[in-house]
Amino acid sequence: MKILGIETSCDETAVAVYDGNVGLLGHQIYSQIALHAQYGGVVPELASRDHIRKLLPLVEQVMQESHLREDEIDGIAYTKGPGLIGSLMVGATVARSLGYAWNKPSLGVHHLEAHLMAVMLEKNSPEFPFVALLVSGGHTLLIEVRGLGDYTLLGESLDDAVGEAFDKTAKLLGLSYPGGPALAKLAEKGNPDRFHFSRPMIQHPDLNFSFSGLKTQVMLCVREQNPDEQTKADIACAFEDAVVETLMIKSRRAIEQTGWKRLVVVGGVGANQKLRLQLRESFQKLGVTVYFPRQEFCTDNGAMIAYLGYLRISAGEKDGLSIEIRTRWPL
Ligand code: KG4
Ligand code: ZN
Repeated sequence: MKILGIETSCDETAVAVYDGNVGLLGHQIYSQIALHAQYGGVVPELASRDHIRKLLPLVEQVMQESHLREDEIDGIAYTKGPGLIGSLMVGATVARSLGYAWNKPSLGVHHLEAHLMAVMLEKNSPEFPFVALLVSGGHTLLIEVRGLGDYTLLGESLDDAVGEAFDKTAKLLGLSYPGGPALAKLAEKGNPDRFHFSRPMIQHPDLNFSFSGLKTQVMLCVREQNPDEQTKADIACAFEDAVVETLMIKSRRAIEQTGWKRLVVVGGVGANQKLRLQLRESFQKLGVTVYFPRQEFCTDNGAMIAYLGYLRISAGEKDGLSIEIRTRWPL
């Protein structure tokens, strides 16, 4: 079974084809970063208009790259939510229209569930059950995953998501959008011993997070220091260390609480090199294997949508007659 996947929940237009027998046949991601950079963040109306411009050409490109004709596609999956309303509408209407035109089933899927399953696209993929740390621009979740659709929320951020904290802190340091990768790059030049920010919520026994206070600590530090370039790098480094250690401490607790020996890290912040290295190293000592998607499948992509669509459409799921999207949608 070959499934076309369409992702348009935020500022990436992404398309892929997943084949149940062969794996990924093709995928493309078009990022709108340049469009939004001058505004310092995603402008929702511009995002949806750009999805309209880019989506169909991208579908054609992926079909060509996958050497497929329309009649060889068995179903179309798209992101139904959560995300920006206009952006979601573009993906949903295009996917549904292709479904009608090609007479194939379509299915709207959950963006966060797709992030979770992105790790299954790798050769070295985990078996169920596992603990998942989902760290993106909108979410910070610890989840017990026992199988497809069988999830228990263990903990979440009570305020800012960790990606949001990266982006806001980057802005405080005068870095351009998107802040996460820019801050990580700056932090490479930083001295880890110059500043220390507290690790939020680690004294609480639960598995919840809070990152807004950390952002405020950075803000006060920036005000006090009036930082030059090296000081900015030192602050970025201390911020990144605080985030990575907090995520490690809570993930370790989730592993202890559940008893599972597999940790899966997904979502945009999962692309962060320091997080990848330190989690791998420290969990290896505990006999826990850490799994990540490849970096380009940590951030938003079409492959994870095509793959999740394949799992669900091959199990007989499909959309009803109405077009529905959900801007907010708990996992
Ligand atoms: O999963 P994603 O692409 O979109 C959402 O569904 O939110 O995640 C985007 C988030 C942004 O906040 C971005 O700054 C962050 O992931 N991010 C990173 C890195 N790459 C992306 N944060 C830290 N280090 C990175 N290397
Ligand atoms: Zn995402």
